[in-house]
Amino acid sequence: MTAPPSVSMLLLRNVPLFSALPEQQLALLTSLVSRRSFPRGTTIIAKGDITESLYVVISGRLKVMMSDEEGREVILATLGPNEFFGEMGLIDDSPRSASVVALEACEMLSLSKRDFKKCLEENFEMSMTVMRGLVKRLRGADQKIESLALMDVYGRVAHLLLEMAETVNGQRVVTKKVAKQDIAKMIGASREMVSRVMKDLQSGGYIEVRPGAIVLHETILTID
Ligand code: CMP
Repeated sequence: MTAPPSVSMLLLRNVPLFSALPEQQLALLTSLVSRRSFPRGTTIIAKGDITESLYVVISGRLKVMMSDEEGREVILATLGPNEFFGEMGLIDDSPRSASVVALEACEMLSLSKRDFKKCLEENFEMSMTVMRGLVKRLRGADQKIESLALMDVYGRVAHLLLEMAETVNGQRVVTKKVAKQDIAKMIGASREMVSRVMKDLQSGGYIEVRPGAIVLHETILTID
């Protein structure tokens, strides 16, 4: 049997959630967190489950989602390296508010509820990082409500692309691979509608689709 991969001080020091912990606490934490790999498609936590642990993403991407019995799905957010999840249930002792599923093979650190609460109790900066994470989620949720209530599908797609874009050589570019089906689940539209809108945005000169990248032109800012 192979031993589980160990967790070094250096790895923890580079995780924003833990980076403010004093040396001694960080050393203690190396024996409290476990490091695990999950294949693509794994449900790491399921909505309604009882809450046991907090997770920190080391590598890979995940989606936070909800679904109904017919398999319809809404994606609330996507998460990547250095982000954490599973804190909500730990804070209010409620069941998991959503499911979190690996979009790619992922590596994760997990920390038990007891140890997470103990860390928060002893470290104000870590509590602030968790609070900032919660505020970020609330802002994201507010934006989603705004786009669902006030924008048409053109506005929602444009908004999402701008949100996902990074600046490369002065241009706003989306380099993350995201399927049209997943865009549809993020903005509450059908895949066919998303395809049509993307085509229109392309022919209207708002976006340029290149292999592995979508370049956003300034004019996309005029869509709402
Ligand atoms: P918890 O409720 O314990 O389990 C599901 C987790 O998904 C939750 O904690 C958060 O970490 C995360 N989550 C829930 N809603 C959102 C959201 N709107 N945006 C990002 N992450 C979320």
